[in-house]
Amino acid sequence: MIPSRKFAFILISGFWIAAAQTSHYTGGCASSNCHGGTSVLAEKDSRILGNEYSIWFARDKHSKAYSVLDNDRSKRIAEILNLGNAQKAQKCLVCHAAGSPPNSISDGVACEACHGPAEKWLGPHTQPNSHATSVQNGMVDQSNLRTRTANCLSCHLGNKERVVDHEMIAAGHPDLVFELDTFGAAQPMHYREPKPSPGNSLPRVRVWAVGQASALAQGMTLLAGHATSNWPEFSDLECYQCHHDLRAASWRIQRGYAGRKPGSLQVNIARFEILRKLAAQSAGDRSSALDAGLAQVTSLVATRLADGAAIAQAAANVAKQADDLAERFARQDFDAAAARALVKAISGDAARIAGAGVHSAEQATMSLDALASAIAGNRPDFQKAIAKLYDYLEHPSTYQPAEFAAQFRQVAAMAE
Ligand code: HEC
Ligand code: HEC
Ligand code: HEC
Ligand code: HEC
Repeated sequence: MIPSRKFAFILISGFWIAAAQTSHYTGGCASSNCHGGTSVLAEKDSRILGNEYSIWFARDKHSKAYSVLDNDRSKRIAEILNLGNAQKAQKCLVCHAAGSPPNSISDGVACEACHGPAEKWLGPHTQPNSHATSVQNGMVDQSNLRTRTANCLSCHLGNKERVVDHEMIAAGHPDLVFELDTFGAAQPMHYREPKPSPGNSLPRVRVWAVGQASALAQGMTLLAGHATSNWPEFSDLECYQCHHDLRAASWRIQRGYAGRKPGSLQVNIARFEILRKLAAQSAGDRSSALDAGLAQVTSLVATRLADGAAIAQAAANVAKQADDLAERFARQDFDAAAARALVKAISGDAARIAGAGVHSAEQATMSLDALASAIAGNRPDFQKAIAKLYDYLEHPSTYQPAEFAAQFRQVAAMAE
């Protein structure tokens, strides 16, 4: 269900980094009476499922992340980049083999890559009410949605140490795309789906909202870093403005180049097209400042590309705003009426979002998927309809915004 082209940075709590330096990975989660059970524990007896390891091993692509470094695609990437064996190249291992002790890197992206090095909390964390102490001892608090997004995006967007740049993409690495709720569900979940509680009517809408805001914050922080060191970095720009067939009546020419010179470069705006709708709907007081900040980044990239310092400053400003929004959404209640209004707002603006490019369309689709699943669960008719949208996005070179927008509105109408 997940589109195959994807994106990825991090703003991890200094906490975790500090802890990671002094604590080691154990690889000690899989025992059958811990997380390696073969059946799910009854909910009345246990908060956790008990078969997390089995789910990860059998169904979660993270457990295969090291082995894919031996496939033909990886070999070709490594050959082009002159890296030798990808399974031994730090450039790849930083994301494809993480969270294990050195002798078991073949575990790929293991439990502790997300939950933190367990040396100091492995024993004590089985005690009741130990969560806060474990977190002090290096456990990553995955229930904190901003921390969670930062963790996912450290690999699914990248950061200073974990890099998928245009050079790596041009060598054959998949483009990195991410949406927290959709990817969390696709992983698949090895935990009980969060239940509604007072002040958190639709937990998955909150996951989606925090994910959207955090992703923009981290994308802008990454861009700000590139703008002062390695600029222009093409992976921060909209891909298909460069990678498309030339046609006399192209949709770009039909659409026009509002607010910029024809042919000027466009920053990758996929991470803010949806957030801007979300801000307008759910954080109205912040909406115009966010729009102004975003307009500044896009306009600087289009008109003063060489001025990396100015671009970095504008991007850092948006990152700060987006991070504040993420913090706010992490406490905000989203109910079914709010989720429906969001679907309506995104659908109502489908033409413009589609015109911003394939990646924006992709974010819109994953967002619709997340919102609709939160409102009504996994309805088969809806799943079938949205699968067609994902399929449509698999072919970026034949992408037509008007076609996409029309299909999108039809699917969205099922969720409104
Ligand atoms: C910033 C982290 C990061 C780095 C560094 C990285 N990758 Fe990846 N890689 C990913 C992510 C995330 C995916 C999954 C993309 C998706 O499907 O959304 C992926 C997917 C892949 C795939 C596709 C796997 C499949 O199931 O089809 C291959 C092949 C691959 N990477 C090879 C490499 C190689 C070779 C290197 C080193 C040259 C490398 N990667 C470096 C994060 C990274
Ligand atoms: C790609 C990241 C990732 C990996 C890899 C991962 N987890 Fe998780 N895990 C999560 C997230 C996100 C949650 C949801 C946390 C929440 O809702 O509080 C979670 C939840 C859990 C929970 C429930 C925690 C609770 O307090 O209810 C357990 C137990 C768990 N994981 C164990 C494991 C084990 C064991 C492995 C390895 C076999 C593993 N995880 C691998 C991300 C990951
Ligand atoms: C240490 C790096 C790392 C972290 C942290 C990480 N991932 Fe991944 N993820 C990867 C890599 C590498 C792959 C590609 C694995 C493969 O194709 O075999 C991947 C693949 C995936 C896929 C499969 C995508 C597809 O195209 O099928 C999903 C879904 C996913 N990750 C979700 C998450 C979520 C949700 C989080 C945070 C809770 C997360 N990941 C955290 C590195 C990471
Ligand atoms: C500013 C223009 C520009 C942008 C933006 C850009 N690229 Fe490229 N890309 C290039 C150029 C130039 C090449 C090298 C083509 C050659 O050498 O033949 C290239 C090569 C590639 C290649 C390998 C060759 C091919 O065409 O198959 C891939 C894949 C690729 N880019 C993907 C992407 C993705 C994904 C993005 C967005 C994340 C992106 N590019 C953004 C200009 C761009």
